[in-house]
Amino acid sequence: MRSVRFATVAGTVVLAVALAGCGSSTKKVDEQPQAGDNAGALVGVTMPTRSSERWIHDGDNVKRALEKLGYKVDLQYAENDIPTQVNQIENQITKGAKLLIIASINGKALTNQVDQAAANHIPVISYDRLILNSPNVDYYATFDNFKIGVQQATSLLVGLKLLKADGTPGEAKGPFNIELFAGSPDDNNSSYFFNGAMSVLQPYIDKGTLVVKSGQKDFDTIAILRWDPATAQRRMEDLLTSTYKGGAKVDGVLSPYDGLSIGILSALKSSGYGTGGQPYPIVTGQDAELASVKSIVKGEQYSTIYKDTRKLADVTVKMADVVLKGGKPEVNNTTDYNNGKKVVPSNLLDFVVVDKNNYKSALIDTGAYTQAQVG
Ligand code: GAL
Repeated sequence: MRSVRFATVAGTVVLAVALAGCGSSTKKVDEQPQAGDNAGALVGVTMPTRSSERWIHDGDNVKRALEKLGYKVDLQYAENDIPTQVNQIENQITKGAKLLIIASINGKALTNQVDQAAANHIPVISYDRLILNSPNVDYYATFDNFKIGVQQATSLLVGLKLLKADGTPGEAKGPFNIELFAGSPDDNNSSYFFNGAMSVLQPYIDKGTLVVKSGQKDFDTIAILRWDPATAQRRMEDLLTSTYKGGAKVDGVLSPYDGLSIGILSALKSSGYGTGGQPYPIVTGQDAELASVKSIVKGEQYSTIYKDTRKLADVTVKMADVVLKGGKPEVNNTTDYNNGKKVVPSNLLDFVVVDKNNYKSALIDTGAYTQAQVG
């Protein structure tokens, strides 16, 4: 069904190009001016929440890039409420959107909506988070999420001095007490981050160099629903009470997202870390949110992962534009992201691990922040 649909739109483009006159068209289909009905079409963009800074940037960047190409944009945020996101997508279909870009709250909750989109010949691009259990997810744009987990764990090892920055063994021997946090269990990315991280940490745990002192290691126990900072803070407080009351210290915390890291650091601070000669443990993160970058500059959070969402927006919008013109966008991965019904053709972007040593080159020189913003 889907390929028939694309083929038909592509046919229209070829026809339009042919009618536009011979001789002038040495360009590829992808580079042709917009064809037929989709010039200036409405594109529906749905983002999970405004409570995290990154999604505000994502939404703005996608909207801006689409508008630059002449499309109209309906941009919606659902404040992490699944029924709201479902309604927003259904409204966009009703309003006549010609393509949907969706960053889902719960990857399993949108099957009906993307199936409905397909029935209306509306292609769907999953943005950063994969929509699961439907054959009607056409493309996916994200970062290399397993590799992000690998790098978060590697950065934890570097922070603990078990490794040097170049990956060779560091001066420390351990054992070190660590605790593990994972992202929202309904976000497909969370297990990629966690599995990537554990691929690095497990051998150290097996050797006894790293000790998960609470014993809480399985994904379901350590996952934080909706990536909620307050839930992470409570879990860290509980761990400190249950496991570290007798004087043992936390040396490291694997945190997959800056919002969680800030909650975790706040629990640690209330328990006396960061003061009186008791340093904060090594705490990782992701997204390079301003609060965390400031925290890194102050020497509190140890690291984050900078994902340039301007690039993610550009790649996504480029794909959308090609699809709207009836073409087939380029992808760089056709193996890793099986959504339960199909392997979704994906564009995976690269990212940068950021700590106090390289934040200037990674974040200031690239224009992500100004020095004045980060302090
Ligand atoms: C994930 C995303 C992370 C982080 C998290 C919480 O899906 O990959 O970068 O933003 O959501 O918003």
